[in-house]
Amino acid sequence: MAETTSIASLSNRAMEFVRTGPGMPAGRYLRQFWQPVYHSVDLAAGRAVKIRIMSQDFTLYRGQSGQPHLVDARCPHRGTQLSSGWIEGDDLRCFYHGWKFAADGSCIEQPAEENAFCSKVSIASYPVREYLGFIFAFLGTGKAPELPRHPEFEHFDGMVEIDSYSRDCNYFQNLENALDMSHIGFVHADNAAVFKGVGLGRLLDAEESNWGVTYGFTRADGQRRVQQFGMPNIFYLTALPTDADVGWQESMFWWVPLDDHRHMQFSLHRVPAQGKVAERLHGRRQARRGEIEVAHQDLARDVLEGRASLRDVDKKKVDLVRLQDDVAQVGQGLIAERDGEHLGRGDIGVIAIRRLWTRELGAFLKGRPTKKWQRDAAIGPRAWGLAGNPARIGGQGMGTTKAAEVIDVRPHVEIAVQLKALHAAVDK
Ligand code: FES
Ligand SMILES: [Fe+2]
Repeated sequence: MAETTSIASLSNRAMEFVRTGPGMPAGRYLRQFWQPVYHSVDLAAGRAVKIRIMSQDFTLYRGQSGQPHLVDARCPHRGTQLSSGWIEGDDLRCFYHGWKFAADGSCIEQPAEENAFCSKVSIASYPVREYLGFIFAFLGTGKAPELPRHPEFEHFDGMVEIDSYSRDCNYFQNLENALDMSHIGFVHADNAAVFKGVGLGRLLDAEESNWGVTYGFTRADGQRRVQQFGMPNIFYLTALPTDADVGWQESMFWWVPLDDHRHMQFSLHRVPAQGKVAERLHGRRQARRGEIEVAHQDLARDVLEGRASLRDVDKKKVDLVRLQDDVAQVGQGLIAERDGEHLGRGDIGVIAIRRLWTRELGAFLKGRPTKKWQRDAAIGPRAWGLAGNPARIGGQGMGTTKAAEVIDVRPHVEIAVQLKALHAAVDK
């Protein structure tokens, strides 16, 4: 990786990564990549919603055919929200005066106009695809690239769990947190005074890969933990299993800005559970969804504003890990102030992604070629402490041709919070 950028200038450059509205440098760059924008299960046929992605509003709807469509938020006639209208087949009719738009954005009816001028008006329409339980959209200009696929999550002997959440701070804080193992011993340790050495700076490494950054930690006994960051906003890691019935678990995350102060983490976990094991796991996950009554986002605010303490939290009623990360990341501010930072060896992962982003964003803005990021099967995560080996392409556990079942395990309270965040109006 080029070492020409000083750490001080990386702090300044990092501030360019955080603004992702239309026309902003990072917003234009991120829009060159397919992004998950919604969960398939949350959008029934015949329903339209207004969503906000990267400080831009859209209408997302599912036609009667079952196909999802993404178009502008407002009607070009007199600007009301198109999500309040009617879905007719795969077309969308405005609630106010009934103008009707086809899924490609063309206007096809203007009921009050004897001399209709449909050909003079249209709305923008964006490519969408459903994949692994998410609705992905391409919000950039020009022809959409192929949607990147992740075959490990498509066909294997197990199931895929959806466990996304929203967080009330800039997306880049969460992205940096992923390549920061030194936080684990404090943020996620009940006894914060004990640092067991996972994330000790000199044992960390971060190297550029064909997909982004390979981030590793080598224990004194030579055991390695390896996590993969994918440009511009994806992460692939081996998590320690969260259930005694499964020996390993792999997760993939996309951090998608809603605006500059809020983001979604779209999360997938693949777990090797089938048959009776899957049934038991499914039962426990369903029970846990209902048990969580407190939104971690609300409790984090209470902690940060002095009304509650992390020490008194009832772990049964809240997702503790998410709450802990909320407190650390939202605690940095809605947009972390990076000018006053003092980075050390333990921040090697943060420095690595800032370097890549700086280089790529710089090239993109100058119209120079940017790197074509690609993940092949060799770019995968690993960790110690697993029982059995994660299924790998061409190896054991990938034999099935049946698509892995995708199951929603988001707590009910989480779904309510994240839909509110996704549907909210852009702050003006
Ligand atoms: S505002 Fe949509 S038809 Fe008038
Ligand atoms: Fe964390």
